[in-house]
Amino acid sequence: MKTIVVLTGAGISAESGISTFRDDNGLWRQYRFEEVASPEAWARDPQLVMDFYNMRRKQLLEVSPNPAHYALSELEKKFRVRIITQNVDDLHERAGSTEILHLHGEIRKARSTVDEDLVYDIKGWELKLGDLCEKGSQLRPHVVWFGEPVPHIMKATGIIRSAEIIIVIGTSLKVYPAAGLLQYAPSSAVKYLIDPKAMPEYHVRNLHLIREKASVGVPDLVRELSSEIAK
Ligand code: APR
Repeated sequence: MKTIVVLTGAGISAESGISTFRDDNGLWRQYRFEEVASPEAWARDPQLVMDFYNMRRKQLLEVSPNPAHYALSELEKKFRVRIITQNVDDLHERAGSTEILHLHGEIRKARSTVDEDLVYDIKGWELKLGDLCEKGSQLRPHVVWFGEPVPHIMKATGIIRSAEIIIVIGTSLKVYPAAGLLQYAPSSAVKYLIDPKAMPEYHVRNLHLIREKASVGVPDLVRELSSEIAK
């Protein structure tokens, strides 16, 4: 079975109703990430940080995966599909994908502030100041903030190296180290990039640009790849 590695960003969840970050109505147009998504922000105003993630978590509970997420799940019938996502939502999981690596964490989980191995599912949408881990320390959102290390980046590099086909979906490729993963892709791998605003200047060999929204471009590509394998 051929291996397809998929790198997703906020754009794959946009049509589910979740804001991206750098589009005109994106989150970083409404908030300064230094105030809501950094260790300094947490130290300065933890309630503001909690409110930011509680608002996003509440929205996530009200939305569903879209045809792009479901198409990737469908792709597992014909290929080994290894998803590396920058997204902290659980829409890939809810669509049925089975191999998912969250590079930037998971918004529906909380983590101890004294022991990063203590991670808990958040019941419902709200995490509050005063919610403590089993060691008595405050719980924080289990997400990677700006300025924090990306714990799974080496694992992600190994995954991208295993690809025969790579599909990049809905990411501006502006945030490292995630954006640098493509440089570890085998030159022989066939690469697709699905984004309505895809620009031609990516310095990646063997890249096919698909200027479509994810809910159209991903199912179309999945049908094409699946029919090729059927021949
Ligand atoms: N279908 C496909 N792509 C889309 C769609 C759509 N319907 N709508 C928007 N896009 C594209 C945009 O054109 C853009 O290229 O999705 C991309 C979103 O880019 P960003 O908002 O920068 O999101 P992302 O690349 O995931 O950001 C990376 O930055 O702030 C951090 O941690 C955060 O994980 C995030 C990281």
